[in-house]
Amino acid sequence: MLARIQSIMWPLMFLFVGFSLILILYLGGLKVIDGRMSVGTLTAFFVYLAMLIWPMIAFGWVINILQQGAASMSRLAKILDTEPEIKDGPSTDHNITGLSGKVEFRNVSFRHKNAQRNALEGITLTIPAGTTLAVVGYTGSGKTTLVNLIPRLLDVTEGELLIDDVDIRTIPLAVLRSRIGYVPQETFLFSETIAENIRYGGEGRDPEDVRRSAEIAQLQKDVAEFPKQYDTMLGERGITLSGGQKQRTSIARALMRRPQILILDDALSSVDTYTEEEILKRLRGVMKGQTSILISHRISTVKEADLIVVLNEGRIVERGVHDELVMQGGIYAELHRKQLLEEEIEHL
Ligand SMILES: Nc1ncnc2c1ncn2[C@@H]1O[C@H](COP(=O)(O)OP(=O)(O)O)[C@@H](O)[C@H]1O
Ligand SMILES: [Mg+2]
Repeated sequence: MLARIQSIMWPLMFLFVGFSLILILYLGGLKVIDGRMSVGTLTAFFVYLAMLIWPMIAFGWVINILQQGAASMSRLAKILDTEPEIKDGPSTDHNITGLSGKVEFRNVSFRHKNAQRNALEGITLTIPAGTTLAVVGYTGSGKTTLVNLIPRLLDVTEGELLIDDVDIRTIPLAVLRSRIGYVPQETFLFSETIAENIRYGGEGRDPEDVRRSAEIAQLQKDVAEFPKQYDTMLGERGITLSGGQKQRTSIARALMRRPQILILDDALSSVDTYTEEEILKRLRGVMKGQTSILISHRISTVKEADLIVVLNEGRIVERGVHDELVMQGGIYAELHRKQLLEEEIEHL
């Protein structure tokens, strides 16, 4: 709309300016010929007018920019003024300043707003501090919904969610979220340097921390090959990362805050299996004593976890360690069998 008006406005304006100059020249010329005006007067008038044209156009331009800015500002203000639905309440205990990382679901059910049915149904699950939980299940089984409850991106609608044996609402949101490293399914990077992208959310930390996180996420070799290493711009004004590089940047970002609880929501799906193994090995090192929650389609990612749960239509249908689940012959065993077959085919 704006573009269309502008595309008509500019030619029209120049046409109008051109015509008025011709008109003045013509009428003025007639008067000069009649001897009612001197050539000097006409010339002076003409030059003054020409000098006025540009400031007039510039003035219009500035007004235009001001109006566009005001429109954008009001849209921004609307977002900035939005009161979040999930916030600290009267039950918040501001004496809590840290987490130890135990997570417990007690008969939790959850229904998304405007959804017809529950996305989670009667989830009962304890993740002791310092252990690794893996969540497996088909697309739409509720994996993302389950982990979104932990940093309170969503609030439990039925049942109880406890962290360190207290209701999650008791913990100040700022404490909760600053102690959780969450790598979402969809990575989001800014048109900024790669260092800024990794540092995001962990401001004020030692630059050495950026390197440390990148090293754990197996990003350092990639960065070494970028034109300006950690100062390389990403996005529109810089280089485009591959899917796997994006995921690894996102993991490095989550590690910046040295989280007590680390959640990877299918965050290794675009990473090749060799690199994945390297990352998991390092994560096991740095997350020793911290809680990790891994969501994955790949058995290779989850097989070493302390506990594996299989979600199906919002319910936990299988739970145990790798060997037990393979023995059970359920969804997990089926996934395992398929992926073994795929590997064999790849190696043919
Ligand atoms: N924001 C939402 N609003 C309504 N329904 C949703 C929303 N997000 C997810 N769902 C539904 O909840 C179910 C579980 O989704 P999700 O947790 O994303 O599954 P997964 O991560 O296992 O693929 C799906 O049926 C999905 O359609
Ligand atoms: Mg998901």
